[in-house]
Amino acid sequence: MALQGELMGHPDDPAIVLLEHPQQSPDFWRDLCVALVKAGRQVVRIAHGEASSALKRRGTDAYTTETLRAILSQLPMRPVLLAAGDHAAAAISAVSQDGALLATGLVLITPDIHPATEIATILESLPALIITTAQGASPHGIAHVAMGVPHAEAVEIGAGEPLTAAECLDAFSAVLIDFLERRLPRSTPEYRLGSDARTLRDALGCFATGVTILTARDSAGQPVGLTANSFTSVSLDPPLLLACIARSSASSEVFRSSAHFAVNVLHIGQQPASIRFSRRDEDRFGATPWEPGLNGTPVLTGSLATFECARHDVHEGGDHIILMGQVERARFEPRRDPLLYFRGKYRRLHFS
Ligand SMILES: Cc1cc2nc3c(=O)[nH]c(=O)nc-3n(C[C@H](O)[C@H](O)[C@H](O)COP(=O)(O)O)c2cc1C
Repeated sequence: MALQGELMGHPDDPAIVLLEHPQQSPDFWRDLCVALVKAGRQVVRIAHGEASSALKRRGTDAYTTETLRAILSQLPMRPVLLAAGDHAAAAISAVSQDGALLATGLVLITPDIHPATEIATILESLPALIITTAQGASPHGIAHVAMGVPHAEAVEIGAGEPLTAAECLDAFSAVLIDFLERRLPRSTPEYRLGSDARTLRDALGCFATGVTILTARDSAGQPVGLTANSFTSVSLDPPLLLACIARSSASSEVFRSSAHFAVNVLHIGQQPASIRFSRRDEDRFGATPWEPGLNGTPVLTGSLATFECARHDVHEGGDHIILMGQVERARFEPRRDPLLYFRGKYRRLHFS
């Protein structure tokens, strides 16, 4: 069964599968989703028609369990399952066996079910929250059962004055987000020496940079270049800068031995050039306007800035070389916006 529904929020955030119910208005569900996304959760909103018609098509526990378990097992991460009204029965049934393998938590909103004795056992297997309203609460309902389960929580909303729709939503989202933060906190990815390099790369990608293309000429006089964002200024007096080039790069030995090189800082219109100089099998210089600069070093025409350098030093830096240059000429175009790179994507400045 293909999972259909609306995804809201960031795909890296912990997910909540929402089984909405018309007991609460469409506005309530939409605003609750917005509040969850703002709180750093990703919402998988199973569209009402699709989910409920699928769930109710046969109306048997076996079918609803199967449907929901299929939905949960298709997700790349284990979600919190949030079900309202009479979807609560399907939700409980879906997590009744190996629930912890399919979901990280269970939230029932104004559940409309008859509490069977096994519910207490199921609520013990996952962090669980039951939210009821004063109008809908019944002393013998599932919230009552939850109160007897050590790790389950039951909260009644609107016990005092009747709430407006906005107050009701605020109360629901506050209780829900508080539960998620306490019981299912968002974990931040962590890299430790020796663990996967991908997480380290993602962590380094949090440092927003501009984008440059480093250029030089090889011993045959042919222009070479590659996209690099490891550029930084080093010193004003003497005027030094550096960039790090992967030793595996086809041109690293050219940069190591070339007496001169240039750093071309890109503006937003040069994103195609950045892509071209970061991919193999592209005609990098054939498709990019360039001209010879000082000492014949190729410089990309119309860049945001160009720094033409004499090689000052080359240091070994693990799997990269650290190429340091002394700036012989710097030129820049003050009226263009920079091309930016952040978290693996090209970005542009947003001035308010
Ligand atoms: C935005 C961006 C920044 C990059 N920064 C660097 C860098 O600083 N150093 C590096 O060696 N490669 C960097 N790369 C990767 C190279 O551009 C890419 O591996 C390129 O293909 C290397 O050139 P080659 O194909 O001639 O070996 C970057 C790629 C992109 C898209």
